[in-house]
Amino acid sequence: MTCINKWNSLLAERFEWIDVAAVHPFAGQVQSSANPPGYSDAEVEALNSLTENLSHAVATEIHKLEFENVHYETYVTDTPIANFIRELVGGIEKITGDAKFTKRLNAEIEREFIVRALAGPRAQMMLDTEAYMDFLRNGVIPLRFSRKDNKELKDLLSDDINEVRTSNGDWQGVGTYDREKRFTPDNNAAVHTLINRIYRDAGAYEIATAYMGCELVLAGITLQVCRSTDRHWKMTCNDQPTKQLEILHFDPKQGMIKSIHYLNDVTLGDGPFKYIPTSHRWQDDPLRRMAAKTNGVTNYLNNEAERARFLRLPKALQNCAIIGSVLPDGSSLADRLLAREHPYTTEEADAVLFDPGGLHRGGIVDGDGERVNLQIMFRAAINGQPF
Ligand SMILES: [Fe+2]
Repeated sequence: MTCINKWNSLLAERFEWIDVAAVHPFAGQVQSSANPPGYSDAEVEALNSLTENLSHAVATEIHKLEFENVHYETYVTDTPIANFIRELVGGIEKITGDAKFTKRLNAEIEREFIVRALAGPRAQMMLDTEAYMDFLRNGVIPLRFSRKDNKELKDLLSDDINEVRTSNGDWQGVGTYDREKRFTPDNNAAVHTLINRIYRDAGAYEIATAYMGCELVLAGITLQVCRSTDRHWKMTCNDQPTKQLEILHFDPKQGMIKSIHYLNDVTLGDGPFKYIPTSHRWQDDPLRRMAAKTNGVTNYLNNEAERARFLRLPKALQNCAIIGSVLPDGSSLADRLLAREHPYTTEEADAVLFDPGGLHRGGIVDGDGERVNLQIMFRAAINGQPF
């Protein structure tokens, strides 16, 4: 393993930086340049100044964490930078009254700092393998397992697959799938042991650990059966017509690598996992990205009241990570994203390992199609415990 800057090594490549986090959910709708409603000029000025200072503080700290060794506990104790950020976010909360947004934003900032402190300069480790370089370049790689391993996994899960396939599919709301079963080391130790073993044998742990620069542990396995009647992917702007890029998003939490592991034959009509290669590198202002993630889980924009609450945020924080559900069909960005989206069928992959910080979606099934898969989550860990 060599230690060089993993991003610099790719700078020679030409790729398009797309300011994804900056997509405004109401792009295409009438947007005035006037102040958000209900604020005095002085309040707008204060909001803008707080946001600007916060953006600067977050960007500076993240840059520092990428190049210096800082102990992660720095950010869970009373330090000047943590207090300063809390104070700025508190100022925004005081004016907007939107504690739901600000509390989550603060948690997201702290989480991002801790994950980056855990990785630190070690995140610049490189594995000299083709699979690793593909993962680094694209944010995603197809995985193949031996026929024996695939059979062992399907045999182990056959009763569970039957149970989930024949369940009635009552969607329990945001954060769940229409038909699912979650495995923990307590309720199914055998599947945890097997997944750990086959992902190690396939080199996936090695790739993910080098990429993250810190210890990773298997922290979640969900069996999922997707059908065309599913509702789980229509959770943002759910009173609006379905978009061509519906639910294309980047994940709300930092510090994870995921895999979609197919358990049946998945064709284009069966809701294959889709990823936009290289989109994990389309970064812009870190605060804006964190605000987009925060909005993605604190405001689903499902009615006029929620959209009005969103519009009361400082303009620079009006972004949404679920961009596919808010980007108008036919806009130039939507067309570019659609053209670059890559679907992974079982012709190409038994599983797909990906950085959920890149744009992805899946499970949108046509007609009689069906997708049976595991969603597997690896998380950054502290002393063996997922963080
Ligand atoms: Fe996701």
